[in-house]
Amino acid sequence: VSLAPHNTFGIVAKARTLVRVKGEADVTAVLADPKLGPEPKFVLGGGSNIVLTGDVNKAVVLKVEIMGKRVVSDDAKAAVVEAGAGENWHEFVTWTLEQGFGGVENLALIPGTVGASPVQNIGAYGVELQDVFDSLDAIDLQTGRVFTLDARQCAFGYRDSVFKHAAAKDNDFGLAGRALILRVRLKLPKPWKPVLGYLDIQRKMTETGIEHPTARQVYDWVVAIRSAKLPDPRVIGNAGSFFKNPTVTPEQCQDIIARDPGIVHYPMPDGTVKLAAGWLIDACGWKGKSVGKAGVYEKQALVLVNRGGATGGEVVTLARAIQTSVYERFGIRLEPEPVVV
Ligand code: EPU
Repeated sequence: VSLAPHNTFGIVAKARTLVRVKGEADVTAVLADPKLGPEPKFVLGGGSNIVLTGDVNKAVVLKVEIMGKRVVSDDAKAAVVEAGAGENWHEFVTWTLEQGFGGVENLALIPGTVGASPVQNIGAYGVELQDVFDSLDAIDLQTGRVFTLDARQCAFGYRDSVFKHAAAKDNDFGLAGRALILRVRLKLPKPWKPVLGYLDIQRKMTETGIEHPTARQVYDWVVAIRSAKLPDPRVIGNAGSFFKNPTVTPEQCQDIIARDPGIVHYPMPDGTVKLAAGWLIDACGWKGKSVGKAGVYEKQALVLVNRGGATGGEVVTLARAIQTSVYERFGIRLEPEPVVV
């Protein structure tokens, strides 16, 4: 089975076995299957956060296609909405606004599925999934047991959660490869409060002269901002930001400022300083450069793209070369955001 249509990088790779999961019964059937049951499982959502470096031969690929959207509850304090893990994230965001609920408009146009959103705690323009997360249902891939996790149990961090960590032997933390997310619920508080602090949004407010935008207005701005500088994966293969924005100590930051006064940095509430990885990569001259058919996007250096027929190996080679040059110039190790398979 070809995986090319199932990863937003558009990398050509094959899976030996791919099972489409429409509900928990499909998972229990796989677990009960004498042949497939004992094999390792690989959960695939929209494929928007993976780099495939070869065929998937050892694991059974579970392609999550659980659909459905509903309003769970709606009162004076909040609306709780739920979507199947296979729903497209952006369509879900659009639907919440159509229902009259604001709260996730800053997360418009993020590629991928609803089920992938908690895995890396997606975030943009000052909002992270954890800010609006209520709970999720998942199924244990060893026992077939369905369980529910709240925000605390998901252990959200910056582009991080319990689903990105492997289980340690001596404790229960870490669900990587062990669970398949079935449904996600968001709690959208009332009254709606816009999050307008990011520079790109501030610019839109100045441009339009709108001081008190509606949720729909913010949604339209975010769509416009992202469309202008991020490549559409349906046109140019990519996995969004390829590296996380690193944090350094204020002392490290001062050191860098002394040499590079233009560096983009943001002080964090915990006293550390976050640096714009895109700026660091750009400063090393990578914008528009390529390794084979893998390249650095012309309008945003943090995004690696498939210029047509790139292999996962080329993407990884390019990523390593970028990491080396950023390390040599700034002494900072960039950490990839997508999972290399
Ligand atoms: N910059 C450059 N050159 C570049 C790219 C960026 O100088 O080539 C500078 C920009 O001028 C800006 C700063 O770096 O001052 C930050 O850039 P931007 O506002 O585009 O945001 P980002 O830090 O690169 C993060 C998230 C995005 C999210 C945006 C908006 C990460 C790794 N990325 O990007 O998330 O949409 O902020 O909130 O945290 C994703 O995770 O896939 C993603 C797209």
